[in-house]
Amino acid sequence: MPTKVLMVCLGNICRSPLAEGIMRQLTTDLAYKIDSAGTANYHTGAAPDPRSVAIAAKNGIDISQQHARQLKHQDLDDFDHILVMDKQNLQDALALCTSEKQRQKIALLNQAAGIKPEEVPDPYYGDQDGFAYVYTLLYHSCSKWLEAHHE
Ligand code: 4NP
Repeated sequence: MPTKVLMVCLGNICRSPLAEGIMRQLTTDLAYKIDSAGTANYHTGAAPDPRSVAIAAKNGIDISQQHARQLKHQDLDDFDHILVMDKQNLQDALALCTSEKQRQKIALLNQAAGIKPEEVPDPYYGDQDGFAYVYTLLYHSCSKWLEAHHE
């Protein structure tokens, strides 16, 4: 059975689509199934933010075909690991849980990867440099997380 990992942010248009693309690139083997979602439903069905698409493309990753979706209760059973970007995402994801087993699947990505800073900042209201920073941070944390959790 593949290990199923869900990357989660607020809108599922900036950070978690990038995290999904990076995780897919780092796990080309069949041992992983990667997806992403947002805690909010503002952008359901939308493609990733053009600035995330651009920084991914610059690094050889195509995320343009992704579509935003909202995190749902079923995800808490379907996935083995739910990796969130910031403490607000953590609080919102934990609030959906109805069992301890579900709660134990949820972690702050950077904290679980053992890197600083603890949170991946929201680049939405910033400029392209913010997206480049988030890309680099996510590449680092996703690599470290996979090293630590390779099954
Ligand atoms: P994300 O960024 O959570 O990394 O996808 C955001 C996208 C949209 C909004 C906030 C954050 N928004 O307020 O619409």
